[in-house]
Amino acid sequence: MEQVQIKAMLEEKGYIDESIDPEIKLIEEINRLKKEKNAVILSHFYVEGELQDIADFVGDSLGLAQAAATTNADMIVFVGVHFMAETAKIINPSKKVILPDLKAGCSLAESAPFDKFKEFKTKYPDHKVISYVNCSAELKTLSDIVCTSANAQKIVESFPKNQKLIFAPDKNLGNYLNNLTGREMVLWDGACMVHEQYSLEKIIALMDEHPDAEFIAHPECEKPVLLVAKHIGSTTSLLNYVKKSKANKFIVATESGIFHQMKKACPDKIFLAAPSIDSTCGCNDCSYMKLNSLQKLYVCLKHEIPEVTLPEEVIEKAKLPIQRMLEISK
Ligand code: 13P
Ligand code: SF4
Repeated sequence: MEQVQIKAMLEEKGYIDESIDPEIKLIEEINRLKKEKNAVILSHFYVEGELQDIADFVGDSLGLAQAAATTNADMIVFVGVHFMAETAKIINPSKKVILPDLKAGCSLAESAPFDKFKEFKTKYPDHKVISYVNCSAELKTLSDIVCTSANAQKIVESFPKNQKLIFAPDKNLGNYLNNLTGREMVLWDGACMVHEQYSLEKIIALMDEHPDAEFIAHPECEKPVLLVAKHIGSTTSLLNYVKKSKANKFIVATESGIFHQMKKACPDKIFLAAPSIDSTCGCNDCSYMKLNSLQKLYVCLKHEIPEVTLPEEVIEKAKLPIQRMLEISK
């Protein structure tokens, strides 16, 4: 196959290998292209700071879904991970949704394959399904309602107490919600690779070393870690907490990208990353979120690929549980 043909084939599949002129001012170019194409850039708190700063909206999963639902733009550039871009596409089937790197997946979403979950669901015919937004669009088609970490408690409590429930795919968040609401939801055995790697022992040692620090955590962390946390919440909730708290020092158990907004909002406060079991890894980084870069964002906006597409019937079926969530979260 000739070079051009290979390039065309790769581009068709959403892969672009473009060497960027080092003279190009990426931020200026991205802003120019965004205007020209009437695109909106939505970035999650976990991507690199420069990708948060260039966004029209930066937020948690719920905020981003809400921003996608209300945008007037013709094109949505989702600087986050695949399931988030899929959600934006389901809400906006007629808009073009692009993602700087299609390989930006999610370990939690991958822990719940459609076929296995479908089979699992048949064992609980009288249960309703709440799916955490960190799952595939296909899995959402098997759900009654979707939730994010910001509205999960509200969504669980929207069901009558006697309604039997399945919660998927995050067992840690599910377990936390069961404790919080007194429900006994059946949990799918999934977890996030970033939030499961914190060492309780090391966190306690760090708390001893910094008695003036408050320990705060995302609910995807394991139960023993959550038990010692002063505040538990979504990324937005953690951010709001550090802004309001009288404390000046925090130990934070969630992905490292959140420190960008925390430091911006509270430049005089100190933020320490909760320690991992393995001290040699960059474990607080979500390797999927970190696949996004300014260069890829520029190339993606310029060529309008890779595009996130979904079969029509998946969009149709996944729309209802997402709309229910958005309705309850207004
Ligand atoms: P938020 O709901 O706080 O955005 O968290 C999303 C996520 O992927 C956590 O790992
Ligand atoms: Fe998925 Fe975990 Fe990354 Fe969040 S931090 S996107 S749950 S792998």
